[in-house]
Amino acid sequence: MATGSRRGANLALPEGPALGHNSAMPTIDPVLVKPFLGPLSGRFDVDSLEECDSTSSELSRRADRGAPSGTVVVADRQSAGRGRRGRNWLSSPEGSLTFSLLWRFSGPATRLTGLSLAVGVAVAQALEELGAAHVRLKWPNDVLLERAEGFAKLAGILVELSSDRRGTQAVIGIGLNLLAPAGDLLMPAAGLADDLPSLPDRHRLLAGLLGALADVLDRFDAGGFAAVQSEWQRRHAWQGRPVTILQDEAVECEGICLGVDSDGALLVETAVCIKRILSGDVSLRVR
Ligand code: ATP
Ligand code: BTN
Repeated sequence: MATGSRRGANLALPEGPALGHNSAMPTIDPVLVKPFLGPLSGRFDVDSLEECDSTSSELSRRADRGAPSGTVVVADRQSAGRGRRGRNWLSSPEGSLTFSLLWRFSGPATRLTGLSLAVGVAVAQALEELGAAHVRLKWPNDVLLERAEGFAKLAGILVELSSDRRGTQAVIGIGLNLLAPAGDLLMPAAGLADDLPSLPDRHRLLAGLLGALADVLDRFDAGGFAAVQSEWQRRHAWQGRPVTILQDEAVECEGICLGVDSDGALLVETAVCIKRILSGDVSLRVR
């Protein structure tokens, strides 16, 4: 059963302009996204909710009921926004853009190694097209902003795969901070407003992200992660920096971060060898 609530007659708060620091309750209107998507609009079916538990959970339920590739759920509020490994994702209607995209691939999930990295490339590409100049990528699923005072998390990507005999479906969840979130976070957080003179219209922003995703996912589908490896590498935050890999809070290895290979595996040069880390179930920390 769907748990989301669509924007509609019962809105408690007044609707403000589409986006802006002063808007009371920013809400995506799918009709207004279409013109920004242009010829790509036929590839996406956007549904905008005032609130749901998590756009990824909501989209997974819709996928189980047969929703087509290109279905998008965007929500102003998530009551249970999720990060990796059950972590919480903080968002607010004014300060965030939170959405999930369903994409279906033929073949098994093993074909899709590096997909969350490829999604990072798409997010960076879209934000750069809007003028952002300091977007960087951290393995495996973070989009960072490079600032004078150091790196801060700008967006998080959560890719959830499930396969059956027809192929593999990816629920791609993206949480983008428009404004730096308030809250107790492990790593500093930033907002897109920290890298642009003014925030773009929210519909234009979503369309830009979807357009870049269509481009990158098509290329990924045809050529795997190798098709976007150099684009990831170019934006890699910690290239050549000393890093520590943690597994369950314990140090797994230390070395110099060399970036990623054509499968999206992280390469770390330790004192004895070049370690290749494919599993995202580890934490990467710069030293
Ligand atoms: P790891 O490298 O261990 O994966 P991570 O900080 O990248 O560390 P993720 O699971 O990728 O961890 O991201 C979830 C984390 O992001 C949460 O634990 C929380 O600290 C942080 N977080 C939650 N909401 C936001 C937000 N809106 N902006 C930035 N960071 C957030
Ligand atoms: C992470 O950094 O761990 C990933 C965070 C992903 C957050 C987005 S917000 C939209 C979608 N819905 C969720 O519950 N999570 C993702």
